Amino acid sequence: MIRLGVNVDHVATLREARRIDIPDPVEAALLAEKAGADGITVHLREDRRHIQERDVELLREQVRTKLNLEMAATDEMVRLAERFRPDDACFVPERREELTTEGGLNVLGHRGRIREAVERLQGKGIRVSLFTNPETDQIEASREVGAHGVEIHTGRYCDATRDKARELAEVVAAACLAERLGLEVHAGHGLNYHNVLPIAALPEIVELNIGHSIVARAVMVGMERAVREMKELLRSSRETR
Ligand code: PXP
Repeated sequence: MIRLGVNVDHVATLREARRIDIPDPVEAALLAEKAGADGITVHLREDRRHIQERDVELLREQVRTKLNLEMAATDEMVRLAERFRPDDACFVPERREELTTEGGLNVLGHRGRIREAVERLQGKGIRVSLFTNPETDQIEASREVGAHGVEIHTGRYCDATRDKARELAEVVAAACLAERLGLEVHAGHGLNYHNVLPIAALPEIVELNIGHSIVARAVMVGMERAVREMKELLRSSRETR
């Protein structure tokens, strides 16, 4: 079965809107695990706009599945990850003014710096994936810098209206290439209950990371049901193949 990593950043976004202590992303993570999540993902951003360092510490203590820390590949963040010891880390590009992670990492253009950050974390037993657009040169560069895997950015597929089939074909080609190069293949960004099936059906992809749509559904029906519904979809995508 394809793994579901539930990103609980936006539970913290709601909390930070009031700068108080509810809703708690740790409580949300534990409910997600109870409902079948295979991992919990959080993005500790440079501006700390949602997840705080204390959240990561508490998640590290309490998450029983696995903890995936999304982060910029900066010296400050690498030092924090060395301290937090998540199971997995995913390097993402980060610009303060963006609403969410808007594009993939330019691995090709920053090979030296990324290779060093990958080596530091993997030397501590943390598996590193690189969040890349579905592009051949970026996938090849990810292999070259020694990453354990890639997380293919599905944003263009999710946003496409007219050229959805072409964008899906790009994801398929990237997933096949990454697997052929020996990289573990994840995917994420913009996936929801309506668009996830064609991505979840790809046999090369072993993990999806989904945040906004699950948290949005959880507001209406509760976290456990929102996660269970997504797990059901993922199960059906593999059964009908
Ligand atoms: N994967 C990565 C690397 C991301 O940066 C994000 C957004 O934080 C996600 C997955 C989840 O995207 P969404 O919230 O659109 O499901």
